[in-house]
Amino acid sequence: MQMCHLPIPWFYTPVRAVLKVWQQLTKTKFPELTQSSVLMRERSRVEEKIHAMQRAGAGSLQVISDFDMTLTRFALNGKRVPTTHNILANQLLIDEDCTKKMRELLNTYYPVEIDASRTAEEKMPFMVEWWTEVHELLIQQRIRKDMLAQAVKESSAMLRDGYKLFFNHLTKQEVPLLIFSAGVGDVLEEVIRQHRVFYPNVHIVSNYMDFDQTGVLRAFKGQLIHTFNKRDSALSHAAGLRELKGRPNVLLLGDSLGDLTMADGVSERQTILTIGFLNDKVEERKESFVNSFDIVLVQDETMDVANSILRYVTSSRY
Ligand code: TMP
Ligand code: MG
Repeated sequence: MQMCHLPIPWFYTPVRAVLKVWQQLTKTKFPELTQSSVLMRERSRVEEKIHAMQRAGAGSLQVISDFDMTLTRFALNGKRVPTTHNILANQLLIDEDCTKKMRELLNTYYPVEIDASRTAEEKMPFMVEWWTEVHELLIQQRIRKDMLAQAVKESSAMLRDGYKLFFNHLTKQEVPLLIFSAGVGDVLEEVIRQHRVFYPNVHIVSNYMDFDQTGVLRAFKGQLIHTFNKRDSALSHAAGLRELKGRPNVLLLGDSLGDLTMADGVSERQTILTIGFLNDKVEERKESFVNSFDIVLVQDETMDVANSILRYVTSSRY
């Protein structure tokens, strides 16, 4: 067989070298940020923040995350994944009438919670009503502490795809994770315990149940946390969380504009990078999310973007 050797043009090598440099310059370290489901008001600002966090290193970082519909999936195959409150709607814990009332309250108040035409201040009294009524209903049911784990087991509670990498990476890097939830703390703990990621670097601020000495629910502890008063809890818990001190950089994850205040208690804050999961009512809420969060993830059921950023920020290879 005869081979045909074409002469290599003299300019080939320098052109190839220039092309290679160009490819290196334009190659993104975050391919996840180029997906169509990722929206950013100012991409260059996001990259600046990520680089600043990487320069400061893992020792300066903390992660503050909402729980329901942020660390948990919003839906699976078109079916909603239950929030911590909705996990309680199990006949082991509450009767049919209570389940029905909770569903009616959800149908009344959830549309208010995600209404793009109202401000957080306008929504606040409705949220207080919703949480107060639900908690009163739950107390009337005399929920037993020892049945919670079984109710979680029987539920379809599910953390977002990539959660293992997220939790494992943070614990390995000794980066504290503060989960800040207006859900039910006892249920939240059980969900992450059953997913085997309740590590010592995980701290939780939430609505915790108060049980009597026989293990029956009699009240909720402390000040009520709902979607739009997280700032108050952030400020009042700030002093107590010693592990979070001296970590001025924050990766904040949420699915509501109310979640943006979760880092308000961080002292001497430096770089705060915010990621918002836009799960529902996408068109109506897109503009306000893009104006408020640094990165908006549209109907993304994974932790991929957060994982990619964390991998870079906690590495010293670059
Ligand atoms: P989060 O702060 O962890 O997201 O938890 C708050 C969510 O809980 C909020 O988006 C609304 C939801 N929720 C229910 O699903 N059912 C309820 O009965 C209540 C009071 C809240
Ligand atoms: Mg949420």
